[in-house]
Amino acid sequence: MRLPNSVKLVEVGPRDGLQNEPETIPTDIKVELIDRLSEAGLPVIEAGSFVSPKWVPQMADTAQVLARVRRQPGVGYPVLVPNMKGFDAAMQAGATEIAIFAAASETFSRKNINCSIAESLERFAPVCQAALERGVAVRGYVSCVLGCPYEGEITPAAVAQVAADLLVLGCNEISLGDTIGVGTPAHAQAVVDAVAERVPRDKLAAHFHDTYGQALANLLAVLERGIAVIDASVAGLGGCPYAEGATGNVASEDVLYMLNGLGIASGVDLDSVTRAGRFVATHLGRPPASKVNRALG
Ligand code: HMG
Ligand code: MG
Repeated sequence: MRLPNSVKLVEVGPRDGLQNEPETIPTDIKVELIDRLSEAGLPVIEAGSFVSPKWVPQMADTAQVLARVRRQPGVGYPVLVPNMKGFDAAMQAGATEIAIFAAASETFSRKNINCSIAESLERFAPVCQAALERGVAVRGYVSCVLGCPYEGEITPAAVAQVAADLLVLGCNEISLGDTIGVGTPAHAQAVVDAVAERVPRDKLAAHFHDTYGQALANLLAVLERGIAVIDASVAGLGGCPYAEGATGNVASEDVLYMLNGLGIASGVDLDSVTRAGRFVATHLGRPPASKVNRALG
């Protein structure tokens, strides 16, 4: 399969990145980061989540963040929603896109959202129905598609089943998460191929964490398999609070540098994203995890 001519980059740093930071990050910093990212040309910026603040305290100010970002026309600002309580709060805060998040591992599902996979789908059904009635787009995540921190190996068939279930619920895009960054390229291709038997490739996104340094290689491998939506995190921020040891997502700067080199259009300006990455890294008091960002410095 040929590489795509263009790719949609989904910036997840303000959510997936910042959710894992131990220190409270001021709302001002989150808002400025998101505004810098939209100015850089990112078409989708995950702005936060409406989850229990006891579980993920770092996202407790998502309503304030949404109220204050300078929403750019044509830019999506989705938020994660685990249940109807989160959905109602997201609507109250003016969210126009949401994401629900399931897992291909039973144990991860329990650790992350305190229920089985089947129960999570039951919880998501009314959320999706309410969203679709209001014209709110729903993205679906599948975690642990290339391995689970608790169960180890996850079969491609298990991933395909959850992805297909999310499609039936009405998700317009399904993001395949290598939550702990353990995958390698042939494995990533095999999972995409298995999922593609149940969900059209043009509805799939790749969401790869970079714990083992494989994320860029895995992305190139799935670009070759028809994936044209890539999740990435500015400065390589992040990790999942319920996947100990997992590092951030693949860095947006690193993905952009690779796409630019391949001549794949994204509409995103690398220099501006690099500056946004330095802005947040300076606030966090550590260098960006992105190699490209450090090299350009
Ligand atoms: P629970 O304890 O089973 O829920 O948690 P509950 O319904 O029994 O409620 C317990 C308390 O939470 C109650 O408050 C509820 O009101 C409150 P209390 O009476 O104790 O004061 N509550 C809420 N508060 C605010 N917003 C809500 C909400 N729901 C209940 N929406 C629950 C279940 C799902 C809520 C919890 O497990 C949770 O919030 N989990 C979120 C975990 C999370 O955010 N993980 C990170 C995101 S997933 C990720 O990073 C992976 C991804 O990047 C892809 C990848 O890399 O693989 C997407
Ligand atoms: Mg993630």
